[in-house]
Amino acid sequence: MPETDIGGLAIAWDRRVLEPRPWTAEQAQWLAELAVDAPPGPALELCSGAGHLGLLLTHLTGRPLVQVDVDPVAGEFARANAARHGIATDVRTASMDEALGEDERFALLLADPPWVERARIGDFPDDPVRAIDGGDDGTALARLCLRVAEAHLLDDGVLVLQVGDQGQVDRIAADLDALAPRLRLVDCRVRERGALAHFVAGSPLTGAVGALGAVGAVGRGLVDAQKGHPQP
Ligand SMILES: C[S@@+](CC[C@H](N)C(=O)[O-])C[C@H]1O[C@@H](n2cnc3c(N)ncnc32)[C@H](O)[C@@H]1O
Repeated sequence: MPETDIGGLAIAWDRRVLEPRPWTAEQAQWLAELAVDAPPGPALELCSGAGHLGLLLTHLTGRPLVQVDVDPVAGEFARANAARHGIATDVRTASMDEALGEDERFALLLADPPWVERARIGDFPDDPVRAIDGGDDGTALARLCLRVAEAHLLDDGVLVLQVGDQGQVDRIAADLDALAPRLRLVDCRVRERGALAHFVAGSPLTGAVGALGAVGAVGRGLVDAQKGHPQP
């Protein structure tokens, strides 16, 4: 069975799930750095696949972990990879909008949804369609992640969301006050194979004010639009 090293953790996977991409370790490592200033509380990973990003986050921070993926095979890999590394995790096999109790709250949230535009998923024949199909413009599942974050992040809780490129970040930022008014977009890192967006949750009032400001600030700051199409 194939294995990939992600931030020092050997992660097992096979062709039924998305192959773990080593560059994405940065997503967990960045959130672990941000966790120093986050409130106490558990971590949530949405769209966890073979589980490596959430496992690396908990390996680095010691935070209790809940991992959600709609694919039961992904859940099996996440459990097996966690057991191998002695990391405790609560893996839930369900769509992200149905996996959490109404009262569950998290201090940290990692989300790595499918983000390939539907018209381009044929460009990636080795990847499971459900792992990459992000709807017409690639942001459908990212938007669902933001809704889950809006409902389940503690005040001052932190989200690092992966999408395909700068354009996708800009589109969801422009709709943030409607999608997730508690969230404020703080920063973004654009890499060759994807983009990472850092959000912070506030109370309903401060979140809405912050989000409106962030659209302009981030829009101005993120002018180096990634060229070409995103690739998972
Ligand atoms: C881009 S892959 C990321 C997997 C893993 N984080 C990685 O880096 O390989 C997206 C994952 O989202 C899952 N997924 C798709 N729709 C979902 C939904 N509605 N709720 C939860 N998970 C979903 C897929 O099964 C897939 O494992």
